[in-house]
Parts: sequence; structure tokens; C-alpha cells
Amino acid sequence: MEKIHVKDKDFTISIRNEEIMKHVEEIAKRINHDFADKDPLFISLLNGSFMFTADLMKLINFSCEVQFVKYASYEGMNTTGEVKEMIGLKGDISGRIVIILEDIVDTGITMKHMVETLKAKNPKEIHICTFFAKPENLQVDLDLDYVAMNIPNDFIVGYGLDYDGYGRNYADIYTVVK
Ligand code: IMP
Ligand code: MG
Repeated sequence: MEKIHVKDKDFTISIRNEEIMKHVEEIAKRINHDFADKDPLFISLLNGSFMFTADLMKLINFSCEVQFVKYASYEGMNTTGEVKEMIGLKGDISGRIVIILEDIVDTGITMKHMVETLKAKNPKEIHICTFFAKPENLQVDLDLDYVAMNIPNDFIVGYGLDYDGYGRNYADIYTVVK
């Protein structure tokens, strides 16, 4: 499909799944190289990162643990600037090497909150792995260790990303038509 309609907006295809998968493979290769003997704990941020997490984890070639947490910060197309914890972490992560998996870092507020919440639990290291980043929009000081794709400041859906809860199911990425 070249064009989709999600709720009240039109979107046009911008990144095909084939290209997405090449970037997932690159990230997996780097993580396999960097963490093979380190027993990292992957922490995936729901809902947006479920597709990226599934694709990436299938390419991780060492035994590891993955957990899912959920924060909410978005309403419609604008960030509310506030984050709420919906599902938390299970178990002790002190002394662990943590790799956060996220779909997209936009302003970075959600990720900053996540990092601060995790730091309080005394992990040994925290690494950030995000599929997309919108560098023009970053408002906080964040070290993004693994970024699959930097994209311009346009609103996108697909590959786990939503517009008001819809559009996560598409394998390709679609950009809103202004
Ligand atoms: P931040 O706190 O502004 O960095 O927002 C991060 C969250 O906003 C991401 O985890 C996404 O859920 C959501 N988000 C940011 N940009 C987009 C977009 O273009 N499409 C869909 N969701 C987005
Ligand atoms: Mg998200």
C-alpha cells in the first residue's frame, strides 16, 4: 500500500519494511558484538517498540532476558510533556547491564524519565537502543548508544508507531500528509 488513512489523517509510505529490516540487522550485529558475554537485560518500552523488539530479539544470538515496561506520554500528535508509569519492572536489576529498547526518541523526555527511573534501581550500566530518533526535536541531554535511523521532524505511523492508538500494525512506515 502506498497510502493509508488512519483516523482523520492521510499518510503516505516513506520507509519500506525491507529497509527497516536492514537497519535492524545492523543494530543486532553491533549488540551481538558488544554484549555477547555480558548477560544484558533488555527492557522494551511498550507499546511502540513491540515490533522492533520482536525483530531485534530474533537476531540476538546469545542467551538473554527481556522485560516489557509501559509509560505513557503521548496524546494524539503532540507530547503532553508528562510521563505516567503503567506497567513497571519485575525483579532486581542492581548490578545488571541494561539495554533499553524504544521505537522512537522524539523530545527525549520519555527516555530521560526511563533512564532516571532505572538509575534509581542501581544497574551497572544503562544503554539506549532506539529504532528512530528525531535529532532536531531532542530537548534533553541524552546519550543514544544505538540509533537505527535518524529521521526528520515529521509524524509517522507503522512498525509499532501509532496515531491515537491506530496504525501500529503496518510493516512499513508512513508519514503524515500535511
Ligand atoms: P518523547 O518523550 O517526546 O521522546 O516521545 C517519545 C514517544 O512519543 C515515543 O515512544 C512514541 O511513542 C511517541 N512518538 C514520537 N514521535 C512519534 C511519531 O512520529 N509517531 C508516533 N509516535 C511518536
Ligand atoms: Mg513509545
